Amino acid sequence: MLDEVQKGLEGVLVAESGLSSIDGDAGRLIYRGYDIGDLAEEATYEEVLYLLWHGELPTREELARFTDEMTEERTIDDDVRRTLRGLADAEEAPMAALRTAVSALSADEPEGDADPADLEATRRKGRRITAKVPTILAAFERYRLGEEAVSPDPELGHAANFLYMLTGEAPDDVAAETMDQALILHADHGLNASTFTAMVVASTMADVYSAVTAGIGALSGPLHGGANQDVMEVLLEVDESKMDPLDWVRTATDEGRRIPGFGHRVYNVKDPRAQILQERSEELADASGDTKWYDYTTTIEEYLTEEEGLVEKGIAPNVDFYSGSVYYQLGIPVDMYTPIFAMSRVGGWVGHVLEYQEDNRLIRPRARYVGAEDEAWVPIDER
Ligand code: CMC
Repeated sequence: MLDEVQKGLEGVLVAESGLSSIDGDAGRLIYRGYDIGDLAEEATYEEVLYLLWHGELPTREELARFTDEMTEERTIDDDVRRTLRGLADAEEAPMAALRTAVSALSADEPEGDADPADLEATRRKGRRITAKVPTILAAFERYRLGEEAVSPDPELGHAANFLYMLTGEAPDDVAAETMDQALILHADHGLNASTFTAMVVASTMADVYSAVTAGIGALSGPLHGGANQDVMEVLLEVDESKMDPLDWVRTATDEGRRIPGFGHRVYNVKDPRAQILQERSEELADASGDTKWYDYTTTIEEYLTEEEGLVEKGIAPNVDFYSGSVYYQLGIPVDMYTPIFAMSRVGGWVGHVLEYQEDNRLIRPRARYVGAEDEAWVPIDER
């Protein structure tokens, strides 16, 4: 038995997976062998979900059937809507509202009694959850604005329909494609903290609702999914400071601030997803004629990499560094960025639950005990 503690499980292999692989030195990410750049360029999010959950790309017929099933499953019931209204009135954070609503979805699950070992039932449940997450998020946003929720539009794809339900207007092609790409890019990423969390829950043979609910909780933290919102808050801070962005980042690093959107446990070079989102951010900026947010990000990146030498230390932009400015330019509220990450990553969580439960073993590590030994009991009045 190992007696050396691997803090943060860094470098520890806990499972085999065929879903995604990261080459942290080359800056490459693949889903089931397909390069993330090709998937972002060529596929839709629905196609990527199929690939992750079924192991291969769908044929045209398979994709049409799968998309129809997902489209039919977008609606949420009145109890979940009431819960969301209450949470919106209570000014709950969107990630917490999502966590609560996903947990509540199981009450309306038609296969609620299915054995968690029935992987086909788990796949269908996972599909239902994934189909409903955009509806939950958009309804919550509308409720907290004091408006009625917008019903899903079956004519629109998963990404475009989310933007439609969020804003009440069908998005243009650029917005719809950008959102679809963002969903593809965030769908899976090896055993990140939230995926591992979902797997730990699934390894007890708990059901997929519990696994996804737990995954949402893990994703919400600032060291994981919460960083995309933090990046945008930094960009807004730069703007409000009225400082030159270069002076701002110089001062921030002199003060010892850690800039969100930089650094990664696995990548030692720029995250390939950041590269793709940077291009989207630049395109949106050029199209609107307002390049401010894009310029702030590139100035900060250049300073941190060249003058602070972070790249030599293996600390480079991660996916969150450019997603913030992309979502901002799409007009999405800042506290919806991490929920959008969840809206995509739910695909990865479900994929890993299916894969792990197929050959399940309870995940149960150990801690090296460093506490006291042989203490004599002290009665309460003598303490
Ligand atoms: N800016 C400056 N220095 C950094 C940064 C940063 N953003 N991130 C890490 N470092 C330094 C850190 O100070 C440490 O240096 P030293 O060894 O000299 O003390 C070294 O890099 C290792 O840092 P660590 O925190 O021990 O590394 P980790 O592997 O535990 O953390 C991380 C990875 C993502 C938590 C960390 O890089 C971080 O806090 N980044 C900012 C938050 C962020 O962007 N999170 C999103 C991650 S990607 C999307 C996702 O998976 O959700």
